[in-house]
Amino acid sequence: MNYCVIGLQWGDEGKGKVVDILAESCDIVVRYNGGSNAGHTVVVNNPQAPSREDRFALHLLPSGSVRPNVACIITNGVVVDPEVLLNEIKTLAAKKITLKGRLFISENAHVVLDYHKKEDRLREESLGKNKIGTTVRGIGPCVADKVGRSYAVRMGDFRDLENLKGKLQTIIEYKNKVFSALYSAEPIDAAGIFEKCKLYADKLSPFVIDTTEFLHSAIAEGKSILFEGAQGTMLDIDHGTFPFVTSSNSSSLGMPAGCGVPAKTINEYLGVAKAYTTRVGAGPFPTEQDNEIGRYLRDKGNEYGTTTGRPRRCGWFDAVVVSYAAKIGAIDAIALMHLDTLTGLKELRICRAYDIDGCEKTFFPANIARLAKATCVYDTLSGWDEDITDIKSFEQLPANAQGYIRHIEDVIGKPIKMIGVGPKRNQTISK
Ligand code: GDP
Ligand code: IMO
Ligand code: MG
Repeated sequence: MNYCVIGLQWGDEGKGKVVDILAESCDIVVRYNGGSNAGHTVVVNNPQAPSREDRFALHLLPSGSVRPNVACIITNGVVVDPEVLLNEIKTLAAKKITLKGRLFISENAHVVLDYHKKEDRLREESLGKNKIGTTVRGIGPCVADKVGRSYAVRMGDFRDLENLKGKLQTIIEYKNKVFSALYSAEPIDAAGIFEKCKLYADKLSPFVIDTTEFLHSAIAEGKSILFEGAQGTMLDIDHGTFPFVTSSNSSSLGMPAGCGVPAKTINEYLGVAKAYTTRVGAGPFPTEQDNEIGRYLRDKGNEYGTTTGRPRRCGWFDAVVVSYAAKIGAIDAIALMHLDTLTGLKELRICRAYDIDGCEKTFFPANIARLAKATCVYDTLSGWDEDITDIKSFEQLPANAQGYIRHIEDVIGKPIKMIGVGPKRNQTISK
């Protein structure tokens, strides 16, 4: 089986946990989009640890990396911050998890360097209240250099340091003009960046290959591959709530371009959604509850960004959003996470349509000027009080929890095959 795991909301749906579970029966896990803006959490039992568990927040390594026999691929579609990647490799090494011989990075993946992060920060600061609320990981500026072509650095460039030195001089001269003219900011030191690149080249070059060829050979050998999407469909540069989006195609449409593998290679597109909705950063959020309900969800669900630590905005489940994401992403089935977080709420709401100018619409208007006119049409369901965090089967769930799941399946028209009732691997119900 080849799977593609895709976020159906605004990111942080619990993709890391789902990928970690599926990775047990896969040979290869692939990250193909985004960069270190992603933060995918994997929680693993460890009887030796004081908390009896290890919690990994992965930004660039695929979430399969904590499983020792899984090959980990970072393809051309990812923008790689070598500093973050090296730190992550070190964190895993400290837990005796080695990536030697099983991590492969595309020679065509673009590299995030310090000037990208600086540009991201300066632009956000200059926008004031109109800022996007990026993760400030340099993702947008690096992708802009990729599309602009003239000032791009790719992983393969680490193979020829003399050439890279000249390239960096040209790029940094240009960047410093921009920093000074637009932001009156301090220049970046080209020699310092080059020294860092020498270190990155030394440590990372052994992992750099043609990942497209690798993946096609693996497919020919019948290997089972898991494609791990970063972010979520509503953050997709073309199909999300532009401009409050990230700079890659974070719906499943980004998979083929991001790794050179055709979409039809996938046997199952598994969409991941939370049983409610969260968003971090600015932008529209029709079902947002900036009130007691939102605070309840944030506290109970521990809704703070895995990458930036920012509090996440919280609200009711938006079936218009998830249906849209399922449609454009060819989603076959859904993993619904964080059902446990809803425990204790008397009433639950599911947005089944938007009222726009007096008409009920069930197809999501991604244009935010049209979206601004939408008011939510809710179905109200009864909640449950029972602790569900140890429940192992759908039938054991309280009747109202079962009803909530069935209601979502009815509105979306897709089966929910996995239900999250806690952050650990074994807190997952297969349906
Ligand atoms: P990702 O970016 O989609 O991988 O998601 P994040 O890791 O950023 O955020 C998801 C958070 O929810 C993490 O802290 C997970 O450990 C946690 N989590 C995942 N599934 C569940 C669940 O079913 N219930 C609870 N309570 N937490 C979960
Ligand atoms: P994972 O993979 C949640 C959001 C940022 C911001 C917008 C643009 O963990 O689900 P960027 O730094 O990409 O230019 O920021 O996108 N964002 C995410 N939100 N989860 C993510 O990744 C995100 N990656 C980017 O908060 O609103
Ligand atoms: Mg995340």
